[in-house]
Amino acid sequence: RADRVFARALLAWYARHGRKDLPWKRTGDPYHVWVSEIMLQQTQVATVVPYFERFIARFPTVTALARADLNAVLHLWSGLGYYARARNLHHAARLVARDHGARLPRNLERLHALPGIGRSTAGAILALAHGERHPILDGNVKRVLARYHAIAEPLAGKATEQRLWELADAHTPKTRVAEYTQAIMDLGATLCRRRQPECARCPVRADCAAHRLGTPERFPAARAR
Ligand code: ADE
Repeated sequence: RADRVFARALLAWYARHGRKDLPWKRTGDPYHVWVSEIMLQQTQVATVVPYFERFIARFPTVTALARADLNAVLHLWSGLGYYARARNLHHAARLVARDHGARLPRNLERLHALPGIGRSTAGAILALAHGERHPILDGNVKRVLARYHAIAEPLAGKATEQRLWELADAHTPKTRVAEYTQAIMDLGATLCRRRQPECARCPVRADCAAHRLGTPERFPAARAR
């Protein structure tokens, strides 16, 4: 099936080219995965690495973060930007300490209920830390899917958003979910970038509709205005 072709090609590419030496991958600790996913929401991997290392050295556990002063957390975040992420992370750590025995819930709804954790981030944490099968749909993944399926509509619409979630789900394999999840995020962040995508090196170009049309940069469509 086409869906399996996508996952298989992506996994083979990731096995050869994926970055597996990142600090949050070395441990697989759900708390580390959570902190890294929040930092990576609006910031590139190369920038995040040293911030992540300092953050974890200072706050090695959920309990340590929950006990910290917000100002100490914001201080370690300074330079990363989007400070609401740090406030939400600190607030969420206090909720996890109070309501979940200082262990990040292993459940999509309860994760999603925490400040700063959207549906995609909740799915990413469960997939990356536990290998649970959940689709993810961040900005990079939306672009990959919009191109692969040559989705003509701007992505902001409710129906298009729903369709993208369905496609994300259909593409997610039953096995090797953690690697697949990292692979599709990496593809969007590296080769399948918004401007000047590197289709020549893309593992899924053979079945990518936007590549076939010869106009990958026209997907996703600009917002209607
Ligand atoms: N963006 C969000 N999460 C990411 C991750 N784990 N790797 C690369 N980019 C990301």
